[in-house]
Amino acid sequence: MKPKILLISGSLRATSSTQQVLTHVEKTLSPMAEPVVYEGLGTLPHFDDSPNVSQEVTALRTAIARADGVLICTPEYAFGVPGSLKNAIDWTVSSGELVEKPLALITAASQGESCHAALQKIFRAISAKTNENTTLLIQFIRSKIDSDGYIKDQNTIDSIQVLCNHFVSAIIEHVQAKAEVE
Ligand SMILES: Cc1cc2nc3c(=O)[nH]c(=O)nc-3n(C[C@H](O)[C@H](O)[C@H](O)COP(=O)(O)O)c2cc1C
Repeated sequence: MKPKILLISGSLRATSSTQQVLTHVEKTLSPMAEPVVYEGLGTLPHFDDSPNVSQEVTALRTAIARADGVLICTPEYAFGVPGSLKNAIDWTVSSGELVEKPLALITAASQGESCHAALQKIFRAISAKTNENTTLLIQFIRSKIDSDGYIKDQNTIDSIQVLCNHFVSAIIEHVQAKAEVE
């Protein structure tokens, strides 16, 4: 089984280091999973809890629901979770698509501890399935990417490989356990 994994970037910047990490993650996952890149973060409306949601919100919820797992890769801005990513997560809280969903987190920033800790707290609160093997904090990210946009730091490449291996195994176990219950 090749699990479908939705990849979400927490950055909308044109020269995004997060996007470069996510491109590497996509390549790393490809032999063992079906990565699907979510591209709607920048067009989501601000969260207002309206029951009549826009097609952008429906598309986000559907993309998460259809995925076997979700991998979020994000920078830290102003000691916190980027607003556009937090907005997307807020849109899923009442509808529950991330509940019991296998979730991996890569925070790639200059420092990143605050954002990394905050997101893990959020994931516990909404009962997403994540653990220490599926979370990774990459610090000094810009020094680990070369001028062509490729990750040049071998430890980082290895850590991403290990995370992807653990995440795919966790998803397969989760899918099999669900199938046994049903
Ligand atoms: C507006 C802004 C605020 C930032 N604030 C932080 C911060 O609080 N902590 C940190 O570790 N890095 C911070 N950074 C650095 C980013 O984490 C780093 O530049 C990262 O590579 C940005 O990712 P991106 O290119 O995908 O947007 C900030 C960067 C920007 C643009």
